[in-house]
Amino acid sequence: MAWKTLKQQEDVFSSHTITEAIWIITYDTASVVHGLLKQLYLASMTKNSVNIAELAFMASGNIEMFVAGTETTSSTFEWGMAEILRKPDAYKKIVMELDQVVGKDQFVEESDISNLPYLPAAVKEVFWLHPAIPLLVPRSTNEACEVSGYHIRKGCIVLVNVWGMARDPSVWEDPYEFKPERFLGSNIDVKGHDFNLIPFGSGNRSRIGLPLGHHMVHFYLAALIHAFEWEFPDDILDNVEERMGLTIQKGKTLVGLPKPRLSDSAYLH
Ligand code: HEM
Repeated sequence: MAWKTLKQQEDVFSSHTITEAIWIITYDTASVVHGLLKQLYLASMTKNSVNIAELAFMASGNIEMFVAGTETTSSTFEWGMAEILRKPDAYKKIVMELDQVVGKDQFVEESDISNLPYLPAAVKEVFWLHPAIPLLVPRSTNEACEVSGYHIRKGCIVLVNVWGMARDPSVWEDPYEFKPERFLGSNIDVKGHDFNLIPFGSGNRSRIGLPLGHHMVHFYLAALIHAFEWEFPDDILDNVEERMGLTIQKGKTLVGLPKPRLSDSAYLH
């Protein structure tokens, strides 16, 4: 499976530009994710614990092939699993809509994502609370300007603190709470023009990974939450310490047990 996927990627990359290739691979991910779900099913039979960060890294690595895309996607996914699973209300809503839309006899398909209203609100909340690159990529000013009363000289290096912006109590209600309702039915999106929510940055730099990263976080979360119940030790799940690396990662990595929740035929198909 992994070899086949890599081979497909080589073919794609040898004959297309990078941007075209990313788009093609975006639409060729179901086999990788469904393959992982089947491996998890086998792991669950032997009661083997699963490391969520490694799992996402494996899937992202197979699909995305870039450091910029792998660590950002896997850390967002790990934070997403942690936040959703430690909020029983949000978890129940997501499971309920997955069961209604997908049922319990098959895996989630990528086309199902657009029929799930609550999951995208939860994913926006994850992007908002845990932006993978907290200070974006540094910028330099082309000309002198004023920002919030501060004079910025031409040629200054400017860092945009997306992490801090989300935690500003003068703008957001309960900024430290994971509340997907904040974005339910809201038109704010992550494409870089709503400056309230810019986890992918803004401008040309954000265009590269946005379609694939955005899509994969939704798909991983939907697939893993739909196909398994997850058991994580409370002290690991509830611990929201952050570890700073290339991205902001969850300090205590999620390692837990998956328990199948679909009919056997879904995994053995
Ligand atoms: C959840 C997933 C992802 C998040 C949150 C994310 C976030 C970001 C952010 C914040 C930047 C800096 C943009 C700016 O400063 O305006 C960036 C740059 C970049 N991303 Fe992503 N990204 C993700 C997925 C991906 C994927 C899947 C790829 C590749 C397939 C990718 C490739 C890149 C590249 C190459 C840059 C550098 C662009 C430049 O500096 O010109 N990203 N990403």
